[in-house]
Amino acid sequence: MNDSDLNPMSIIEGKELQLKGVIEQTLKNSLDISRQQSDSHKRIAETADEILQALKSFCQNIKAGSDPGSESKKTDERTTTDFDRLARQVLADVQFGYLSSNLQMLMALGSAVAERDTGNSEHNYRVTLYGCRLAEEIGLKREQIQTFIKGSFLHDIGKIGICDDILLKPDKLTDKETAIMHNHVLMGSRIIKDVRWLEDAHEIVLFHHERFNGEGYLSGLRGENIPIYDRIFAIVDVFDALTSDRPYKPAYTYDETLDYMENQRSRHFDPEILDRFALISHELYNDIARKTMPDLPDLIHHMIKRHFNIDLDDDSLQTRYSIM
Ligand SMILES: [Fe+2]
Repeated sequence: MNDSDLNPMSIIEGKELQLKGVIEQTLKNSLDISRQQSDSHKRIAETADEILQALKSFCQNIKAGSDPGSESKKTDERTTTDFDRLARQVLADVQFGYLSSNLQMLMALGSAVAERDTGNSEHNYRVTLYGCRLAEEIGLKREQIQTFIKGSFLHDIGKIGICDDILLKPDKLTDKETAIMHNHVLMGSRIIKDVRWLEDAHEIVLFHHERFNGEGYLSGLRGENIPIYDRIFAIVDVFDALTSDRPYKPAYTYDETLDYMENQRSRHFDPEILDRFALISHELYNDIARKTMPDLPDLIHHMIKRHFNIDLDDDSLQTRYSIM
């Protein structure tokens, strides 16, 4: 190795194109799955150029040496600040691309399974909205609500492994078919457990049919052994089922719904969480129960903005958020 190998100027000047290529490729790899492909790549090229210019200025100042009080020191400080700003912007842009892509894939996947099961994905949207509002009322942390959103939207993902003859059977299931159907919680949990971004939500999927009295499935957990996410989910899942039209019944009124749910206190539902739900249930009924497409995705986007600090309706990759 000779001296020029250690000189930052020679690295930058001699390998400028390669360096730019590395920067662009690194950013592209992180952003390729973004839905705004063309805009992303244009922005990546611009950012790569800006980084290169900042690097070159930075290295020129190193080469010139620091002379206290000189003009070069001021330039050095300014360039360092610019470089720091750029680095933060690139990091935020990459996180934006990663998070927005994950969230959109989350909704697409959850909706695909729901469409196959019930013909629409409105239930997924509403239970997630109800559950987030209840989680806020209880005081769950932001990270916990993020976990709830993931698990709630994918709660029935395991039904992708249930054959049509059982999943769509109009008649009552046999005992064997019921056992197969119940297994969707285990299949779903396995599916998302191997995805790092989703692994924190796998218990929501696994335990979303448990009941407070231990008579749910698949594990028969009882009381507070059931994760709080699933005790929340159980309430909002039934609330939405009762307040919606279904092929086998018309929608219950608000009072009929609350009467039914009160009857399930300490049976299906955690009594303390049911009390908290009662404080907001009428507002939720008025705000959400009769919402359909395309209003529901808009409401979810607002919820996601509140808890993930990201605007899925912002089509640019400019940083107008603070993820860190
Ligand atoms: Fe389910």
